[in-house]
Amino acid sequence: MRDENQLIRFGLAIEKGLLKKFDDYHKRKGYKNRSEALRDLIRNGLVEQEWRGNKEVIGVLCFIYDHHIRELTEKLNDVQHHFKQIISSMHIHLDKDHCLEVVVAKGLSRDIERIAGRILGLKGVKHGRLLTTTAAKGL
Ligand code: NI
Repeated sequence: MRDENQLIRFGLAIEKGLLKKFDDYHKRKGYKNRSEALRDLIRNGLVEQEWRGNKEVIGVLCFIYDHHIRELTEKLNDVQHHFKQIISSMHIHLDKDHCLEVVVAKGLSRDIERIAGRILGLKGVKHGRLLTTTAAKGL
């Protein structure tokens, strides 16, 4: 086992009310114990920080669009061919009008945000969300 993965116990001073809220939170989320929940919160915080800086991140963009809108399918295709950061995509024909697309991109956070903005800003794209994560080096 790498030394970095060794578990360390440490004491934590926390307000009673905040701890109660935290316990409710981690039970609701289905964590087995406080430690596991706290570790995840710390990791999320660190990932978010990485996201704000201009480090390499992974972005998963999920969006729904109306494929009847003129030229939208072509525009989406153009965007995806244009940006080398886009590494994969999945297309699902949801119903007779709508498609769901999941696009995965890897690159600098500012570039991923720009790509997501380009796609979500196209006329006919109804709703979308960008989920970001990291290659998790050092987490
Ligand atoms: Ni489709």
